[in-house]
Amino acid sequence: MDSIQTVLVTGGAGYAGAVLVPKLLAAGYRVRVLDLYLYGKHVFDDCRSAMLEEFEGDLRDSAIVARAVSGCDAVIHLACISNDPSFELNPVLGRSINLDAFPPLVKLSREAGVRRFIFASSSSVYGISDSPDVTEDHPLRPLTDYSRFKADCEPILLEQQSPEFTTLVLRPATLCGYSPRQRLDLTVNILTNHAVCNRRITVFGGSQLRPNFHVEDMADLYLQVLKEPAERIGGQVFNAGYENHSVSALALIVKQVVEKELECGSIEIVTTPSDDLRSYHISSAKIQRVLGYRPRRSIEDAVRGLVTAFRSGMLPDSMTRSTYFNIKRMQEVDLK
Ligand SMILES: NC(=O)c1ccc[n+]([C@@H]2O[C@H](COP(=O)([O-])OP(=O)(O)OC[C@H]3O[C@@H](n4cnc5c(N)ncnc54)[C@H](O)[C@@H]3O)[C@@H](O)[C@H]2O)c1
Repeated sequence: MDSIQTVLVTGGAGYAGAVLVPKLLAAGYRVRVLDLYLYGKHVFDDCRSAMLEEFEGDLRDSAIVARAVSGCDAVIHLACISNDPSFELNPVLGRSINLDAFPPLVKLSREAGVRRFIFASSSSVYGISDSPDVTEDHPLRPLTDYSRFKADCEPILLEQQSPEFTTLVLRPATLCGYSPRQRLDLTVNILTNHAVCNRRITVFGGSQLRPNFHVEDMADLYLQVLKEPAERIGGQVFNAGYENHSVSALALIVKQVVEKELECGSIEIVTTPSDDLRSYHISSAKIQRVLGYRPRRSIEDAVRGLVTAFRSGMLPDSMTRSTYFNIKRMQEVDLK
């Protein structure tokens, strides 16, 4: 089979995509991005070239999807109304983008001759589990619409698996670290923002386990699976995460790294009781066993990267600017 040369990244201007797209370009791929650019167009200012084609439009518009996917060898599907609480905004909108637009995207991709389709699902599809190690065959008990639609999309893609159309589902843990399209509404990033700006972190509960994954590792994994032989990834589902830490342990890591990097006084951790002590713990043993994949970056690395970005003035108005916070931004744009 010919190697993959042209890759469509839906949602490529988002948090994960803004790290992935420059890496794809640097690796020599021709890249298409289909995105509504809800969080701004600036993310590609440093990497625009003839190798990058941008399609500003809606995943729900089959005409633009057909144009964007035409001539592509692979699709990495990231576009999404992300973050569970975003669904509090408008459940109909969430469904239309995260579920209803998915079968037409897969169909148009197949018809266009795409040979590899990678879907960014989420480790939140498992819901909350007491199991010490949630592996890929653990029952899915999604707790929110966001997670339910992710779970519903997975079989829609996997049933299209064939020698000509390689399908892969990744279930990443919560991402962390710096991206040119920064999100500051994800656990480690929230804690770091508060530590840097307020010198104080509030932890609700704290015993809950939360798996995390560096956004750079996420991007590297997408690059790796573009190169894997089809037999190793076709029809597969993989969890992808770094270590599982309790929220209290994450807060302590953030406190220590920020104090050291900023050479500031002590950062206070305030723990308040919480009713929501839901915990989960994912196993990433399968991806290590089958693909030899291991994350290379730690939570400390993610926090250090963020502190560097703060120090360099790359994250201005970090407590207030809406584009760092998906829900705030979605309320502002009032997408229909
Ligand atoms: N960030 C995480 O912690 C995490 C964890 C697990 C899985 N994921 C999944 O990874 C993917 C990327 O996450 P992210 O954090 O980069 O999200 P993000 O919100 O930063 O990016 C999503 C992108 O999709 C675009 N988009 C939204 N609706 C669209 C539409 N109708 N048409 C075209 N573009 C549209 C947005 O403009 C945005 O650029 C998502 O599918 C998400 O569910 C993310």
